[in-house]
Amino acid sequence: MGNFKGKDILHGNQFTKKDVDGIIRNASYFEKELKKKDSLNLLKGKILATLFFEPSTRTRLSFEAAMQRLGGGVISLGSVESSSVAKGETLTDTVRTVSQYADVIVIRHPRLGSAKEAADAVSIPVINAGDGAGQHPTQALLDVYTIHKELGSLKNLTVSLVGDLKYGRTVHALVELLSLFRAKLYFVSPDLLRIPEEIISNLRGKGIEVVETGDMVEATQTSDLIYMTRIQKERFTQVSEYEKMKGSYIINEEFIKKLEKKITILHPLPRVDEISAEVDTYPGAAYFRQMRNGVFVRMALLAMVLGRIP
Ligand code: CP
Repeated sequence: MGNFKGKDILHGNQFTKKDVDGIIRNASYFEKELKKKDSLNLLKGKILATLFFEPSTRTRLSFEAAMQRLGGGVISLGSVESSSVAKGETLTDTVRTVSQYADVIVIRHPRLGSAKEAADAVSIPVINAGDGAGQHPTQALLDVYTIHKELGSLKNLTVSLVGDLKYGRTVHALVELLSLFRAKLYFVSPDLLRIPEEIISNLRGKGIEVVETGDMVEATQTSDLIYMTRIQKERFTQVSEYEKMKGSYIINEEFIKKLEKKITILHPLPRVDEISAEVDTYPGAAYFRQMRNGVFVRMALLAMVLGRIP
């Protein structure tokens, strides 16, 4: 496994299979430790800064919980309106400032490439918590941790990724990791929200079997896993386009009844209408377990980039 001390976490393509195995091992260690005690002292004295220029519940709070469970402290930019960003301060000046007060930065920003821009401006580790329609690598890592726990292995799976594949940064990051384990991938989306062509050609270049379809029922009959995503209203320039796309795919009781075998269902959340609440009690519905796993994976990542574990 590569040494992550001092490293940025920016893109799903930066990890090797060995890295992913190591992160899963470390996350699993922290999950077990938290069953024995509420917190550890591993990052005592260290400070995490969270800079969220877009809304978040899970990513921000699970990073903050992870840091506090490790004994570290957290500072937050808070709302953009209450910071000097509202006075016109640039992203690079903001992160340069924050790097004087913290040991690691987690950033979410609507602009593609913003996390890399932030990382280039400072010497402390920067973790990308979502850059526009680009990447969300820590979500992808908690997704594979969840898949490993739920299915017992990451090898040779068939996965259906469903919904907004054009703007879905969680999918863009996850397929990088799944390709390390030779998954067969079904991309299920409306025509207007297809996965970017460069992602498809990159996967095919690595010898990954990829199928693009609009038919969720057909794709999921042979899949081990459905990775459902929300149609992201905030990425559309015209609400009328969003209105046409919303409700394209819905997992409900009727869909579950037609499945020939049990299937694992993940979703990065938040959901809108794409998974009905009646599905939450289905044994394969793993999305709430998935979100809890975010704490263990982010504990592992913080401890690794701060050099406290290999
Ligand atoms: N999955 C995810 O990124 O959720 P939040 O937007 O709530 O952080």
